[in-house]
Amino acid sequence: MKGLILSGGKGTRLYPLTYTLAKQLVPVANKPVLIRVIELIRDAGVDEIGIIIAPNTGDEIRAAVGDGSRWGVRIEYILQSSPDGLAHAVKIAQPFIGDDRFVMFLGDNVIQGGIKTLIADFANHDWNCQIVLKEVEDPKSFGVAKLHGDGSIEQLIEKPQNPPSNLALIGIYMFDQHVFEAVNSIQPSRRGEYEITDAIQWLVDRGYMVQPHIHQGWWIDTGKASDMLEANSSVLDEITPTIAPDAVIENSQVDRRVTLQAGAQIINSIVRGPSIIGEGTIIRDSYIGPHTSIYHHVHVDRCEIDRCIVLEHSELRNLPARLHDSLIGRYAKVLRREVRPLTLTMNLGDHSSVEII
Ligand code: DAU
Repeated sequence: MKGLILSGGKGTRLYPLTYTLAKQLVPVANKPVLIRVIELIRDAGVDEIGIIIAPNTGDEIRAAVGDGSRWGVRIEYILQSSPDGLAHAVKIAQPFIGDDRFVMFLGDNVIQGGIKTLIADFANHDWNCQIVLKEVEDPKSFGVAKLHGDGSIEQLIEKPQNPPSNLALIGIYMFDQHVFEAVNSIQPSRRGEYEITDAIQWLVDRGYMVQPHIHQGWWIDTGKASDMLEANSSVLDEITPTIAPDAVIENSQVDRRVTLQAGAQIINSIVRGPSIIGEGTIIRDSYIGPHTSIYHHVHVDRCEIDRCIVLEHSELRNLPARLHDSLIGRYAKVLRREVRPLTLTMNLGDHSSVEII
């Protein structure tokens, strides 16, 4: 069995962060989503993985993941010249997959629990495909499945106007080689993409065995900033906290659900978990609340922060109110002006958003 991770696409819903950073590399609990996906596939016993990359973000993904040996897997990169759809990604992966069965995972999905049982089920049956479904509140934003009374699949539709059920397809699929016939037979959808949902419907229509599995834990498609924060909270709720031996805690309260990574320093501050403070980050005279991830080499001074993700090398100083539900990019500076004139001074990228009190 091989693995295929889709890490191309544009990431427009996460602008401005994804103007300069592949959305799959945004960290959730201080680990990029893509690395979480690689670990999940590896833990299910699959160590040969192809990663679909886009021309604009491919180099950055290669630099972050390399040959995969750090995670005990072998990685091959497959360049998709334009984001023509999930089924198109499968099409161009055929030389890598060959005749093997494979698991395909969307590189921006975060899921509770592993996929060991799913992979074992697929390996132990002669199903041609297995899909994973989850009940959601807004099925219009996803591929949606309608099931027969006996639980088998009747119909699959991509982002329907009038969803026939609230069962969304989540970003984990298992296939045998028949999927290549399907992806080579379908036509682009109204939005101009080769949809994997249409390829699976093609398999269903021709009598191939497509097995649905309904996932019970949480699952988050990290398309938007609010999804990222949600995924961050859910993962933080589950990680086992650790304090690195060289982390410094000075005149501070750090509760037991906090992770401090190598060289983190907490000085005259309160840190409430679940939260994670990255390598070399310094928190001084501040309050860090639950569900906050602060990545490496960040400086926080005289601030209150909760339910936020702060990326590496940023600086937050002397904020007049608590920073809440926010996503701060790399090398960003959020400071209170301390000398007159007391103006607001901003230098924001396209699609940035600031709310002031
Ligand atoms: O998250 C689950 C949903 O994912 C499913 O319910 C839908 O049926 C499925 O079509 C997909 O919808 P999205 O609109 O969320 O897909 P998105 O464009 O966000 O792409 C998902 C991942 O695949 C993302 O990591 C980018 C990558 N990708 C996407 C496209 C369109 C590629 O690698 N190549 C592509 O051509």
